[in-house]
Amino acid sequence: MKKTIAIASDHGGFELKEDLKHFLKHEGLEFTDLGTHSDDPVDYPDYGIKVVKQISLGNFQRGILICGTGIGMSMVANKFPKIRATECHDVFTARLSREHNDSNVLVLGGRILGKELAREISRTWLNTKFTGGRHTARLDKIREIEEALIKYDYEEILKNAKTLSS
Ligand code: RB5
Repeated sequence: MKKTIAIASDHGGFELKEDLKHFLKHEGLEFTDLGTHSDDPVDYPDYGIKVVKQISLGNFQRGILICGTGIGMSMVANKFPKIRATECHDVFTARLSREHNDSNVLVLGGRILGKELAREISRTWLNTKFTGGRHTARLDKIREIEEALIKYDYEEILKNAKTLSS
């Protein structure tokens, strides 16, 4: 059965990730923490990949990624097929990223956001539905780009590639 939320951070997002885990538990939401597990320096691509690879393969529905600014994680996440990662630093953007963009990965900046704001952004993002309608055709265009550019069988590549195997 498809799991719901995967969450990960680098050291710059570690503290905020730990706080958001309390929030997710309190909200009764199932999640899997894919690291990092301390504030020792790590490389954000290694942890971003863990989450988006699983979503790309259909093993999780949604992801939350946190680095210091949210920039690095966004860059990594949006390289992957089927990933619509949106960096949100306010509640309005969080709502629109779901309503218009059907965001499936929320990216946050651990060194930018206070904990309460991050919780409110997450709550909004988790509870807002995609509006569909005219926005569906726009997302279809993004899918078309993916399909045109990604000629290889990415599922096989994701499963087998050593650099992406974590
Ligand atoms: C780590 O120092 C920092 O560069 C990282 O957390 C992130 O902000 C990168 O975009």
